Amino acid sequence: MIGRREMKFCVDTDKRNSWYIGTDNFDTMMINKIESVMFQGNGYLGIRGVSEERQLGERRDMFVAGTFDAFPGEVTELPNLPDLVNMEIKIDKESLSLNDGSIEDYHKYLNLKNGELTRTFDWIINDKRINFRFSRFVSMRDKHLFVSKVEISSDQNNLNIQIRSGIDGQQSNSETQHMIEGNKRLYDGQYIQLMSETQQSHIKFAFNVKNDAYIDGILLNMKPYINMGRRQIFCNYDLNLNTDQKFTLIKYANVYTSIDRNNANSDLSTLSLERLKYNSLSNYDELLQKSTKSWLKNVWQKDYVKIDSDDIKPQVAINFARYQLVASTPDDNRMNIGAKGLTGEGYKGHTFWDTEIFMLPYYIYANPAVAQKLLAYRYLGLTGAHKKAQKNNYQGAQFPWEAAWPEDGETAPLYGSADIITGEAMKIWSGFIEQHITSDIVISVMEYLNATNDQEFAKNMGYEIILDAAKFWVSRLEYDEDRDRYEITNVIGPDEYKEHVNNNAFTNYTAKWCIQKAIKIFNTLKENYPDIYVHLNEKMNLKETYNEWIDKVNKIYLPRPNVDGVIPQDDQYLSKRIIDLSRYQTNNQVSDIFKSYNLTQIDGMQITKQADVLLLLNLFGDRFDEKIKRINWNYYEPKTTHDSSLSLSTHAMMASDLRLNKEAYEFYEKACEIDLGTHIGKASQGLHLAACGGIWNATVKGFGGLKVVNNKLSLDPNLPANWQQLQYQIHWHNSLVKVSIDHSKMIVGVTDGDLEFISHGQTYRVIDGKTVELDYVVEKS
Ligand code: BGC
Repeated sequence: MIGRREMKFCVDTDKRNSWYIGTDNFDTMMINKIESVMFQGNGYLGIRGVSEERQLGERRDMFVAGTFDAFPGEVTELPNLPDLVNMEIKIDKESLSLNDGSIEDYHKYLNLKNGELTRTFDWIINDKRINFRFSRFVSMRDKHLFVSKVEISSDQNNLNIQIRSGIDGQQSNSETQHMIEGNKRLYDGQYIQLMSETQQSHIKFAFNVKNDAYIDGILLNMKPYINMGRRQIFCNYDLNLNTDQKFTLIKYANVYTSIDRNNANSDLSTLSLERLKYNSLSNYDELLQKSTKSWLKNVWQKDYVKIDSDDIKPQVAINFARYQLVASTPDDNRMNIGAKGLTGEGYKGHTFWDTEIFMLPYYIYANPAVAQKLLAYRYLGLTGAHKKAQKNNYQGAQFPWEAAWPEDGETAPLYGSADIITGEAMKIWSGFIEQHITSDIVISVMEYLNATNDQEFAKNMGYEIILDAAKFWVSRLEYDEDRDRYEITNVIGPDEYKEHVNNNAFTNYTAKWCIQKAIKIFNTLKENYPDIYVHLNEKMNLKETYNEWIDKVNKIYLPRPNVDGVIPQDDQYLSKRIIDLSRYQTNNQVSDIFKSYNLTQIDGMQITKQADVLLLLNLFGDRFDEKIKRINWNYYEPKTTHDSSLSLSTHAMMASDLRLNKEAYEFYEKACEIDLGTHIGKASQGLHLAACGGIWNATVKGFGGLKVVNNKLSLDPNLPANWQQLQYQIHWHNSLVKVSIDHSKMIVGVTDGDLEFISHGQTYRVIDGKTVELDYVVEKS
């Protein structure tokens, strides 16, 4: 390996293998960051890349998607579950700890293609050199299964090894304990089980572990000694090893819950035990091979993005982004992707607009069946959205800013960190007044429908979501008699540094757009699908609300470009003080501005946290001309701190659209570094899944030029100068479209159906199985 690895990002990359991320340093400062970046998951089970032995300062988290629980007086969160990774190892009575003795040849790496994590090193202690090799994976084939292996050898004869490996329920969410202890048992002298349950939501869990110990590949006929503690059960081994021998321990572990789709009525204890007995008949390599095959078949064969460039970083970044998205995406429509997926406690596992606007495009084009499930979650979430609307005296569906179980409604916490001036905890207003989430969901439903033409979904769920969202918006509008117009006051737009603003452009434009979509759908249903129309009319009282839509829609106030062409972010924004933000923009610290000002002060200035007006222009690119986009870019970008991980990819796309190629690439590189970069604090509490989606968006939608214009596929790429080629595959309606772009041409091929697409304003047709080649002139900015 030596010679082809390069230090890029916070991890090394491998010139010949873009699926590799690794590190040769055991850097105590980077522990939490590496745990996040080397996360392992399959959408059901998620485990941070912690080491097997405990380390000071670690964040040892394991989650199962959707198993939310609330501590009294707090909002729900994903409980940190009993740990299955931990192995306590003693060598001649000395506990393995990387802080003691010395470490040589340390190497930890994650294979992004199949999620296998490997760690090797020599531990030198009391003049002994002991070689360790740990490897493990969360299975993509059997989502309940986790398999781990440690191999130990040394330069000593008669080396004593003691290993404790089991289930450790003494885990918490920053000291909050969600789990009630149940039964603990040993079965057949070798299987250990811990039954447990969440305190408030009463979700039952079964955890099982079996360890197999080998010397030189021969299974030891040795019964482990079992010990138990509070919420703990372990197997202990004690043996001696000679210099020419290798010791191996394979740990098979699984988790089942009472909310798993397929075993809701099963006896969890028996089911999970039987499954582990079956799984442990295979060895580590056999199980890994099965898991790898599932990654290939279910993920990588469906989707590819290939970047030809002398710099391997962008290819690693897009592989990393897709791996992390898939590893945190549940295969169950009652659940969704958290802002940090399953990679850490940050944001409590809750789902935000991050899914719809930033992550869903990847799934819509790469794996639409997954996108459909994620949107079905919002359909199920109509119950929670009705609750929220009613509570606030609105009608229809007001989607929660933060969501957990679909029927829960709003789950945003009420208070956050302290205000540096007043010293008081700051109220988190987003759960009350950040309302654009309702439109964001509609935007995503429409993007899905445009790309897939999935009529079944439209009729069964999609239309209803849109109609219900429009019902909310129309009840939310406020009439201004003096101006004879409808306004939306007291909101937070995407820029969360401005609270209680009136007529945030993003909110008003997208609310009006929702109502317009609903009007169209109402008429389509009435004319073409009378059964659905009657059904939805009964359910939602559509006729009455339709008249209101018609009366109000054209009177909704949209902040138009002013004389200089600037779209006011809200009524107050343009009259606020302007300061030079360059110091906060170039600094690698997030929210550094709060060290100088509090939120009230920031509110008084033209300071924007993340793309707001620019996001509107990006999402609705076909409705605004280039001049307006350029003017607003020039106006808003210098006023944006990019303190949200959602900002950079939007700016990369926008700059690429405006052919500001240098800026586009700079934003792109920064977007790729949100989690992978060297900044220690970022990502330590978990990854930014929206930023992962953003990397795909900026690559495929930005440089790859994928857009939807007037409901049609449009391809206007803008290949970065230092890339020789970009190739990607997407699903469009029922066909598979392959796009290949270099600096002289674009080749578009299609299978499973014909394709019509637009490029530079011209329409092209490709017949099933054929390709079309377009001369492609690189435009220089
Ligand atoms: C951003 C929001 C985002 C949330 C979760 C916040 O910092 O401002 O737009 O939804 O993080 O990622």
